[in-house]
Amino acid sequence: MVVTVPAIVAEDLKKQFGELVAVDGVSFTVEAGEVFGFLGPNGAGKTTTMKMIQCVSPKTGGKLEVFGMDVSTHQREIKKLLGVVPQENNLDPDFTAYDNLMVYSRYFDIHRAKAERAIEEFLDFVQLREKKDTLIEQLSGGMKRRLILARALINMPRLLILDEPTIGLDPQARHLIWDKLKSLQSQGITIVLTTHYLEEAARLCDRLVIMDYGKIIVEGTPDELVQEYAGTRSATLEDVFLKLTGKKLRE
Ligand SMILES: Nc1ncnc2c1ncn2[C@@H]1O[C@H](COP(=O)(O)OP(=O)(O)O)[C@@H](O)[C@H]1O
Ligand SMILES: [Mg+2]
Repeated sequence: MVVTVPAIVAEDLKKQFGELVAVDGVSFTVEAGEVFGFLGPNGAGKTTTMKMIQCVSPKTGGKLEVFGMDVSTHQREIKKLLGVVPQENNLDPDFTAYDNLMVYSRYFDIHRAKAERAIEEFLDFVQLREKKDTLIEQLSGGMKRRLILARALINMPRLLILDEPTIGLDPQARHLIWDKLKSLQSQGITIVLTTHYLEEAARLCDRLVIMDYGKIIVEGTPDELVQEYAGTRSATLEDVFLKLTGKKLRE
């Protein structure tokens, strides 16, 4: 019998910053190979949850395992299996697109020749081959997000974490990223993403949760949530949120 370890198991997971409870006892399981979404307004606790999974922000309560390993004791092993697209564009402005990826590959001790091949492959994948010698400030917002996606793939991750992958992008740039994520999903990579666009979650995710004030307020497939709380696929998070909580989505 083949037993597949879930990509992530969280039970009553908490994060407190002093008095402020940013993540207030969330429980969820992300199965290997699935695309799992965290939808919610600003301040809901999405980024904080992603940072605990990435082992860069220690949890203050509950249980959190990534591929069966405890985040408190196996940071190094877990980080090797992850690719991360953070909410903020944190590319190095002094380097070209290519050199950003090369510098990053050194964190993973990837042999230079292998890194060169991987960089070419992933620049092609995100359609940035012709931008390889371009400085970061000359790239558009969508190109920067795609370059960060390429960077996240350099170490051949089993789990890709994307924090607001298409925030602020125009529809065309957004669609291009969605296509790339679908292609990665079909290759079997587990994907966890946060978004505050219902359409994005509905298109990409197998399952999703909606978070508010550090808690998960609902979990389901996109179709279940849209049917139950929105009526149509063109509904927005605002519509679902109002139906769920009786409140308007705060800014
Ligand atoms: N390093 C930090 N120190 C103190 N408070 C923080 C820190 N990071 C996040 N918070 C707070 O935690 C809450 C959740 O934030 P965050 O996880 O960034 O939400 P989201 O990503 O859903 O917008 C917010 O109230 C935010 O101000
Ligand atoms: Mg965030």
